[in-house]
Amino acid sequence: MRRRMALVGVMFLVAGTMIAATVHKVGDAALGTIPYGRFEKNEVCAQCHTDIAQQYAQSLMSKSFTHQWDEAEYFELAVPHAEKLAKVAGVKAGCNGCHAPLAFLAGDIPPKRPEEGSRANEGVSCDVCHSITGFEGKIPFNFNYIIEPGDTKQGVRTGTESPYHKIHANPFLASTEFCGTCHNEKDPWGMWVKATQLEWKRSPQGRAGITCQQCHMPAAPGNSAPNAGGQHHPDVRQHLFHGAHWPDMLNGAVSVAIVGSSDTVRPGKQTRLIATVMNIKAGHMIPSGSAEERVVWLDVNATDAAGHVYHIKVDRKGFKGENLTISSPGTMAYQDIGDIKGIKNFPGLERDGDVPAGDRIFRLPYLDDRGRMTVAQWNTASFGPDYRLAPLKAINETFTWELPKEIAPGPLTVTATVWYSRVVSSVARYMGLSEAEYMPVRMGQSALHLMVTTN
Ligand code: HEC
Ligand code: HEC
Ligand code: HEC
Ligand code: HEC
Ligand code: HEC
Repeated sequence: MRRRMALVGVMFLVAGTMIAATVHKVGDAALGTIPYGRFEKNEVCAQCHTDIAQQYAQSLMSKSFTHQWDEAEYFELAVPHAEKLAKVAGVKAGCNGCHAPLAFLAGDIPPKRPEEGSRANEGVSCDVCHSITGFEGKIPFNFNYIIEPGDTKQGVRTGTESPYHKIHANPFLASTEFCGTCHNEKDPWGMWVKATQLEWKRSPQGRAGITCQQCHMPAAPGNSAPNAGGQHHPDVRQHLFHGAHWPDMLNGAVSVAIVGSSDTVRPGKQTRLIATVMNIKAGHMIPSGSAEERVVWLDVNATDAAGHVYHIKVDRKGFKGENLTISSPGTMAYQDIGDIKGIKNFPGLERDGDVPAGDRIFRLPYLDDRGRMTVAQWNTASFGPDYRLAPLKAINETFTWELPKEIAPGPLTVTATVWYSRVVSSVARYMGLSEAEYMPVRMGQSALHLMVTTN
């Protein structure tokens, strides 16, 4: 046994030197360096890793090239823009470095549309992640992963065996840098248009060492390959990858509490309400990642004893760029869509979609080189104020409200709700997306009971 171990050790050493000697092209330079045939299909892995494969198939990760909004943004905005403007020419291939790694590595650019059924559709597949051995440089970003597909699958455990493939225990897969290679992105203008892993590093969870994997791939007792000789472990990584596309992940990720300055209020008189909003579950900003297109907002309404509903507008704080964080129906943005599509005098689209007037929006405005808000993250030349919800930090919003004279005496219920929409509704409708892509999801809600008195 000893001797066998030693032999294996020598073999690993030899293999290690061979790997070190091979030059692996990374990031943009990896384009066209690995043919499709070198990667195995998910169906192969699914034969033994049945449950993991089912979980993964349910996640957005498995649809990283095929789901509707990805297809629309890539083919209708990014590709035409890249062909028109030299500054952003790189995204025609680059988007695929994260969304369709197989196509990028094979040099199949642009990949065929999803309906044609090419291997680009496999997106971020099992064999993509389990062939990543490390990353190049100091900061993980822009698909700077080192990828070595083959018989050896990268895992984390030592002492496990598979009848089908070799296993290399690689601590890199347990690191957040692994995720950061795709979840941090710098655009052609040098802006950090995605910084989920960088945000995490500064977060209380990051400082406590609670990784992406712990929240997005939680550990549960089980066996990842029960019918192929797999072992039982107390902590098998569940391949859920739930995020903004999983309502249950959004529900409760933000908490909101609302109080008034007194328990009784009078018609025609002013009262002041304070809402405290907090990101209690995410180890990064909310929204994170694709923040250019997400809308997270706080909506406050009061219902009187007669059932009339009054909408209450947030107070201004007076910081620079604040206008971009308060909903203003009729204000237009996203005019760069017109430039991309070659539409003359394109007026733009409603900046805030369906968000009611005067609601606070927790967002990071992405601005193009003319200072207009954009959903094209690759076209971001600067940012507005970062008014998102930082992990385990609270923001207070106040509401100075003059009660209508006609408000009904009796109980008054004030509700504060934080909503999440994955794509600004105006953009989603313009791009022809199904409602499922932008329907608001409730993150948190609370109610305050007041009494309207007239004496
Ligand atoms: C014939 C069955 C079989 C097939 C096919 C198979 N595996 Fe495995 N794999 C196993 C077994 C058994 C283990 C060991 C599980 C254990 O004991 O924890 C394993 C372990 C793993 C591990 C965990 C390594 C570790 O210990 O951390 C990874 C990662 C993995 N497989 C990836 C893949 C991928 C990716 C594919 C498809 C390209 C695949 N496997 C196909 C049977 C299989
Ligand atoms: C090879 C690139 C790549 C790697 C590595 C990667 N991801 Fe992703 N991930 C993506 C892409 C691309 C999407 C978006 C898919 C889409 O838009 O359809 C995504 C989506 C997600 C989502 C879903 C977000 C939502 O809005 O629902 C979560 C959660 C996630 N990834 C977590 C992780 C974690 C945790 C890791 C590390 C263990 C990781 N990812 C590693 C590329 C990657
Ligand atoms: C403490 C738990 C926790 C940790 C740690 C964590 N996340 Fe999340 N993540 C969440 C929750 C909860 C959500 C849902 C709220 C949201 O969408 O912002 C989320 C959402 C996301 C989303 C969707 C964001 C959006 O708004 O589109 C992505 C992508 C993601 N996480 C990736 C990561 C990556 C990558 C890491 C590590 C660098 C990480 N997460 C670390 C809990 C966590
Ligand atoms: C986005 C990257 C990503 C994708 C896609 C992915 N995995 Fe994993 N997988 C990981 C990471 C990271 C770990 C180890 C996490 C840790 O232990 O910290 C892991 C762990 C595993 C394990 C070991 C589980 C355990 O804890 O014993 C198996 C087996 C596995 N993956 C198989 C698969 C299969 C099969 C697929 C496709 C159906 C797949 N993976 C898709 C990132 C990925
Ligand atoms: C560095 C890796 C990377 C690059 C490059 C990249 N993306 Fe993404 N993209 C991601 C990740 C990771 C997510 C998921 C983030 C989240 O949910 O917050 C994502 C999300 C998206 C989404 C949102 C999907 C949804 O419904 O929530 C779209 C659309 C998209 N990307 C299109 C593109 C286009 C078009 C390009 C090229 C201009 C591009 N991406 C370049 C990693 C990347």
